[in-house]
Amino acid sequence: MSSKLAPVTIPERTSDFLNSLVVGEPGDWATGKGHIAYPTRAQVLEMSVAISRDVPGNIVEFGTWQGHSTRVIRDELWNARVWNPGRRKRIFACDSFEGLAEDYEHLKAGTFKTAVPRLTGVRIVKGYFDDTLTPELAKEVGTVSLAHLDADLYSSTVTALKWLTPLLRPGSLLLFDELLGEDPAEMRALTEWADETGTRLALIGLFGRHPSGRGDMTDRRGLFQVVGEEKVRTPPPLLPTRLRRKIASTW
Ligand SMILES: C[S@@+](CC[C@H](N)C(=O)[O-])C[C@H]1O[C@@H](n2cnc3c(N)ncnc32)[C@H](O)[C@@H]1O
Repeated sequence: MSSKLAPVTIPERTSDFLNSLVVGEPGDWATGKGHIAYPTRAQVLEMSVAISRDVPGNIVEFGTWQGHSTRVIRDELWNARVWNPGRRKRIFACDSFEGLAEDYEHLKAGTFKTAVPRLTGVRIVKGYFDDTLTPELAKEVGTVSLAHLDADLYSSTVTALKWLTPLLRPGSLLLFDELLGEDPAEMRALTEWADETGTRLALIGLFGRHPSGRGDMTDRRGLFQVVGEEKVRTPPPLLPTRLRRKIASTW
């Protein structure tokens, strides 16, 4: 990654423009409830996996809980194998399974504590990021084509991003599950990290999602791509999902 590239920022005018496109008061997407078909978490995850198809490297998830998002990533990846023979990616799912270490928005510390889920085909990395995101794990993961950041907390997101830095390449994708919301913790972590490392990012998409906190402010998922000097390959077009699944089931 080049250090001369500018860090990511969402300038005031950009957010004004984005907000002018939505129903309701600026920053309030809840007014559009029932009038807007927000993309589901699964749709955004599937799209992110599809975009990352041709980007070399593995997939890492930070914040797995019971494995709902991990299964979507895995199933989409398995379906896409038809298009990527010889380019099999591994999935690493990192979580303490002890739940949140601190309060977050309306959620108390300990929320999301759960038994380790069974996730066939996924390498589960159990423990707090501070302990598990080691140089050894970095070696095992190699480069990262897609990181799904869904640990909610600022401190956890900072730890994940710092560890990820040397594993990212031009084209690597970063999906933040709750980039903006009542507590824009992930956005704070992202902007500080991009500033410190000089990582240049392109905003691929901001996706409205129902509020997970108690306020009326609809949250946003955010998908970014690392931009560097090297060119990235564009994935070939996909066939319709039903046809892909049919072919994949016989693969
Ligand atoms: C919102 S949940 C993840 C939800 C999951 N991605 C899904 O879609 O079902 C957040 C998870 O992050 C984990 N987590 C947060 N901070 C962590 C840390 N520092 N180390 C390990 N796990 C952490 C919690 O244990 C929790 O399971």
